[in-house]
Amino acid sequence: MSNDDLGHWMAHIQARTEAALESWLPASDLAPTRLHEAMRYATLGGGKRVRPLLAHAAGALVGAAPGALDRIACAVELIHAYSLVHDDLPCMDDDVLRRGKPTVHVEFDEATALLAGDALQALAFRVVADPGLGIPSDRQLALVAMLADAAGSRGMAGGQAIDLAAVGQTMSRADLEFMHIHKTGALIRAAIRMGAACGATADPDRDTALDHFGKRVGLMFQVVDDILDTQADTATLGKTAGKDAAQDKPTYVSILGLTDARALADELLAEALASLEGLGGEAQRLAQLAQFIVHRKF
Ligand code: IPE
Ligand code: IPE
Ligand code: MG
Ligand code: MG
Ligand code: MG
Repeated sequence: MSNDDLGHWMAHIQARTEAALESWLPASDLAPTRLHEAMRYATLGGGKRVRPLLAHAAGALVGAAPGALDRIACAVELIHAYSLVHDDLPCMDDDVLRRGKPTVHVEFDEATALLAGDALQALAFRVVADPGLGIPSDRQLALVAMLADAAGSRGMAGGQAIDLAAVGQTMSRADLEFMHIHKTGALIRAAIRMGAACGATADPDRDTALDHFGKRVGLMFQVVDDILDTQADTATLGKTAGKDAAQDKPTYVSILGLTDARALADELLAEALASLEGLGGEAQRLAQLAQFIVHRKF
């Protein structure tokens, strides 16, 4: 599969994801209209859709039905969109720009942003629990649990709590890794696990290899986010550059320095790719996505 082919495939999955999100999000003329407008504003028409891409690539590898993967992709992206709305609030990172637009609390107001995040999270679980998912109910329940674990206090929300407590503190490398694995890694790992769990058959060796891949890519994603915060400009990022240093947040760049942070991203990429080795040519898409994540410009 060439990179040209990757570009087409990414555009195709991004469009499918947009359509799935559009169909699940309540219409903006439905009451309460301001809340629904804010949910749609936070979710539609932006973002790289990395988690949906990973869910589809992992699911395709195991022969999962594309319609089920659309729903998994949609649910994971809804959790991600909610996490961004809350991450940007004044009580957290206090950001005014996201995906090239004013953040939700700036465009609407803080209470609406808080509620939009809450409702996006609830909608994510509604999507996974829907009978139309089309997979046996015991496995569907397992998917609900995976999403809950990834979003909750032992996953993303827990990582965000550590992030906030770490402002102005020094952190050991082990603690920094723990924070990043939770705040960002958990949902990325879940996107891959959930995509793979939509396959018709379980294969423990394959599923372990995919989970190892997800773990490495999840951490790598945030290492690169830390690097981009220091290296890219606001226009390219679509969010305010230099925020981590301005807010005195421990990051891979502040703790290791830029050169070693880059080396770590490359090391994690090599480990991620190595974990795909036994999975055959079908894993090529996941390998390409891992390369995309580490080499991305925003
Ligand atoms: C940004 O995520 C927040 C992190 C978890 C680092 P993305 O870089 O995936 O943001 P979008 O979805 O493309 O806007
Ligand atoms: C956010 O990490 C992780 C989330 C769970 C949203 P950051 O705070 O570094 O994300 P950005 O840089 O604002 O996108
Ligand atoms: Mg943050
Ligand atoms: Mg932030
Ligand atoms: Mg960041």
